[in-house]
Amino acid sequence: MNILITGANRGLGLEFVNQYKMSSNNRIFACCRNPQQLQIEEENVTVHKLDVTSLDNMKELKSEIANTPIDLLIHNAGVYGSKNSFGNVDVDSWLNTLKINTIAPLKLSEILVDNVAASQKKMIAIITSKMGSISDNTSGGSYVYRTSKSAVNMVGVSMSRDLKPQGITVLLLHPGWVETDMGGSNALLKPKESVEGMCKVIETTTDSGAFFAYDGQKINW
Ligand SMILES: NC(=O)c1ccc[n+]([C@@H]2O[C@H](COP(=O)([O-])OP(=O)(O)OC[C@H]3O[C@@H](n4cnc5c(N)ncnc54)[C@H](OP(=O)(O)O)[C@@H]3O)[C@@H](O)[C@H]2O)c1
Repeated sequence: MNILITGANRGLGLEFVNQYKMSSNNRIFACCRNPQQLQIEEENVTVHKLDVTSLDNMKELKSEIANTPIDLLIHNAGVYGSKNSFGNVDVDSWLNTLKINTIAPLKLSEILVDNVAASQKKMIAIITSKMGSISDNTSGGSYVYRTSKSAVNMVGVSMSRDLKPQGITVLLLHPGWVETDMGGSNALLKPKESVEGMCKVIETTTDSGAFFAYDGQKINW
């Protein structure tokens, strides 16, 4: 499979690269803001510059990969955003978080849709969060992060409807609470376990527009 991953230099994105690169049948397009941060020797990995807030970067990436089919497009890059609590929300931080977590998965999908449609697997996976589930929100707060993930869930469902005629499957994936810079040291899962679970969901499901946790459980909106 040809697999393109955003935010591939650390955390879950890097773990996706490390797990998928093990198969020589896979070719990985590892995208990150600072390509020099990702030194990878394997022949089946190429590193590409992509700040997901930059439409220019997205267009440059498209010209680098040209018409190469992309079997699996993983929108992983994300931020938690600062000043998340009631009375403390900063508008600029909120807008920046929406650009990264919500708008980028749509714009990059628009730019690469022909590459995905030309592939065998034809899948777009958005790494979202259970914190974007409205029914799961019993603790409040986290306005910036929660809204960005609720909104990207809606992006994913709309794309699943719009891209159905092209045979494209869109999945919304919750990685669990994972020990990364974002998840922190108290998290319950290591990146390896989370990404192994998400790869299994990616491998086995064709339920386009559905919201799954890393362990295959469906999540309520
Ligand atoms: N960890 C968890 O517990 C957890 C739970 C639920 C959902 N998630 C989701 O999982 C995804 C990955 O999170 P993580 O835990 O791996 O976080 P992380 O360790 O903080 O990594 C975040 C990644 O996103 C990249 N990124 C941020 N802004 C970017 C931009 N403008 N352009 C390109 N890349 C950008 C970062 O690149 P730089 O190094 O350049 O900043 C980094 O590679 C996110 O979407 C997150 O919301 C994580």
